[in-house]
Amino acid sequence: MVTIKDVAKEAGVSVATVSRVLNENGYVGVDTKKKVLQAIAKLNYSPNEVARSLYKRRSRLIGLLLPDITNPFFPQLARGVEDEVSEAGFRLLLGNSDENVQKELDYIQTFAQNNVVGMISATSHVDYGIYDALNLPLVLLDRISDEYPAVYADGEEGGRLAAETLVEKGAKQITVMKGPSHIKPAQDRYRGAVEALNRSEASYTVMSTTSFSFEDAKGWAEELFAKYPETDAVIASNDMVAIAILHEALQLGKRIPEDLQIIGYDDIPQCSLSYPTLSTVRQPAYEMGRQAARLLMKTINKEQEIEKSIQLPVQLIERNTTRKG
Ligand code: RIB
Repeated sequence: MVTIKDVAKEAGVSVATVSRVLNENGYVGVDTKKKVLQAIAKLNYSPNEVARSLYKRRSRLIGLLLPDITNPFFPQLARGVEDEVSEAGFRLLLGNSDENVQKELDYIQTFAQNNVVGMISATSHVDYGIYDALNLPLVLLDRISDEYPAVYADGEEGGRLAAETLVEKGAKQITVMKGPSHIKPAQDRYRGAVEALNRSEASYTVMSTTSFSFEDAKGWAEELFAKYPETDAVIASNDMVAIAILHEALQLGKRIPEDLQIIGYDDIPQCSLSYPTLSTVRQPAYEMGRQAARLLMKTINKEQEIEKSIQLPVQLIERNTTRKG
């Protein structure tokens, strides 16, 4: 059985360092963390080593790994995946990593132990090499890298659309909320927004954030108005953060959209329930899920001429947190 000592030796670090990476407590440098995760994947180490399947047989199971099932964006992805694989006669095993690399590793192990025949991952650690040792068809969804087949939406276009819309609607002091630096879609749309604003006359500030989670969204909203009380428009990093900003702005007595315009990102169902309803950039989450599952089925069936990556368009959805006309 592979032990933590074997991982430490393979990675050329101490056991304590491996432990810090696994438990995500204490500082570990990016390169060291990458070496440890690659060693874990290479040795197929699992702290919770369990008996492997007694026999290998081809199942009809597909593994889907999501980073945060409390965010309404991800269940829409999952629904698209599930509908597609079900129509193909497969069943879905769902894992939720909580943006935690150890949970991600555990689920990869669990999927393998349950003989899934393929996997779709929408999590955030693809660049750590933990999928390199995965001997299974794999498609990345939304949070992608160049090494694997992938389905994603055009984040740069989404950032550009949000920025140009606010400039066209008279925004003069825009705050761009930059999503978590390790999440590629967040950086794509941030880049698209800033490039568009640099071509405009509007002034803007950037507020960096380190999570998309609902729990943290209220804190980002409070920080935004504490740092930039004069902002007259916000490009939020996602809809949950946008809804928290809307809530905080209304509590501060701001009129929406007269005093403050807000554009979110994703178009989760709750956007049409907020008051005022939230303008946002719509990612075609359901279709992204279906396309990822279709790409995986082609890979499993070893079809010819399989697309390497599929980019889907985004769409601006104007509701009532942006000015009319
Ligand atoms: O809201 C969650 C965000 O993380 C979405 O914008 C999606 O792109 C995912 O990566």
